[in-house]
Amino acid sequence: MTVHEPIYITTPLYYVNDELHLGHATTTIYADTLARFWRACGRPVLFLTGSDEHGQKIHKAATAAGTDPKSFADRIVGKFFELWDALDITYDVFIRTTDDFHKHAVQQLFTRLNSNGLVYTGKYEALYCVDCETNSTEKDLVEGRCPIHKSVPQKVQEENWFFRLSAFTDRVREHIEKHPASIVPEARRNEILGKLKEGLLDSSVSRTTFTWGVPLPWDSRHVLWVWSDALVNYISALGWPGGKALPTDAIAGRRRHQHTRAVGETPFAYWWPHSVHLVGKDILWHHTAVWWSMLLGAGISPPRQVFAHGWWTVEGDKMSKTLGNVIRPLDVATRYGRDALRYHVLREGPARGDADWRQALFVARYNADLANGLGNLVNRSLNMLGKYCDGKVPAEAAFADPALETLRLALGARVDRLLGALSAKVSELDLDGALEEIWLLVRDANAFVNTSAPFKLAKDPARKQDLQAAMHALCQVVHALCHAVAPFLPDAGTRIAAQLQLAPGQPLPEGLRWGALPAGHQTGKPEPLFARIEEANA
Ligand code: MSP
Repeated sequence: MTVHEPIYITTPLYYVNDELHLGHATTTIYADTLARFWRACGRPVLFLTGSDEHGQKIHKAATAAGTDPKSFADRIVGKFFELWDALDITYDVFIRTTDDFHKHAVQQLFTRLNSNGLVYTGKYEALYCVDCETNSTEKDLVEGRCPIHKSVPQKVQEENWFFRLSAFTDRVREHIEKHPASIVPEARRNEILGKLKEGLLDSSVSRTTFTWGVPLPWDSRHVLWVWSDALVNYISALGWPGGKALPTDAIAGRRRHQHTRAVGETPFAYWWPHSVHLVGKDILWHHTAVWWSMLLGAGISPPRQVFAHGWWTVEGDKMSKTLGNVIRPLDVATRYGRDALRYHVLREGPARGDADWRQALFVARYNADLANGLGNLVNRSLNMLGKYCDGKVPAEAAFADPALETLRLALGARVDRLLGALSAKVSELDLDGALEEIWLLVRDANAFVNTSAPFKLAKDPARKQDLQAAMHALCQVVHALCHAVAPFLPDAGTRIAAQLQLAPGQPLPEGLRWGALPAGHQTGKPEPLFARIEEANA
């Protein structure tokens, strides 16, 4: 990867049957953090999210709400916008599967598959879980129920169109073997390779029992299966098959952040080779075996990478409406701040395996890392700077004491290494690891305050130079942290920048450098970043 190589980051399209919960916010926070990080490094970024609006599940939810599916989708999608705005998610494009340009692209893709001889009519008989919008075999079920939704699947029998998925078993496997990083983490890749050993079965891609979907272009009695429709969003959002321009008219007003680089005349050709799909483990199969076969069948190469994360449980239980334990991201953000939500998701979330949301752990991490760690460091550094240096960054100085000087040089080295360390972790999609790199600096710097004790140095006129050395070092650390935390904790980044009297959003390579905050720079008023959560209010 070169710094200037583009990256196209996508989340799943969330179903509009209900409000979004912690699981949805998790993928979106991962995506937003990646997007912010790489933008700050100067890499061209396109970040896509959106909504999945067709199919039986949505139809059923709309009917239950006494309305038609489109009005229902409009209402729920409004809540998606509210949530992503409240969490300050910086997507570039928000796609709805009811967008005309998307429906057109879906039809084009299936027309291609049809002309390539990859679809045929047949009899579909299956057990279908409407909540998953996927069929299951007897062996997937637990006591006759869907293991995820606990609902009894429908017995479906109809005449519909099939896609020759079976023709792609070898090609999908070979692609994975040739590009091991195309599915991460490794355990998930092995899962898919294991499942591929059983061979792919042709899959039904259309329905005739309802009309809420994209009509098959050559047989309008059928609408496409919701997954056949939704997966295409990753390329329809790039203007495929036209490839002339992003369909900005259709998405006008929904785009919050315009990607800053010109992408020429061909956004599909520009972005697609750099695509990274972030998904949960339950939909990895759809995003690999099914999606890649569709792409290969249409002569398009698979995405560069699919990253599948695990699932949250809550205090040891499945998160479910029935149990009444659903974590609403907006509630957490309103109560503790959106950075607190992001920090916990990035630190304790299910990036590698599953994870358990525990309130006690949330509070402990928040108090230790945010309030006592980062918050305390920034606050006491800037307070001391105000007291001992009138808030002005002193010139660099060395300690007379060699032990302190060693610590100071070590801090400097850590700051200078940080950009490389963060880039390496973020490239591996190890956002927890990236935060750990930042917190190594936070912990070292807090220890440095305790050891160098500027409050004692300030009382001793003979140690003026040591005080200067300590305060200069702390200014550089706070400045570096302001930049380093911004993609992960955007509000903290903005607030530290304000206290340093700097414009927020400076490029990372400029900020993550010892000495980048010049001597004589006047800082502003220190304000605590994170109030401690007291047990009684937890
Ligand atoms: N609409 C499909 C995706 C189509 S993409 C072309 C869909 N939507 S969904 O609304 O059900 O959202 C699914 C996402 O939420 C998945 O990535 C899934 O893993 C994630 N989660 C749902 N519950 C979750 C947890 N309890 N924990 C973490 N993520 C979870 O599937």
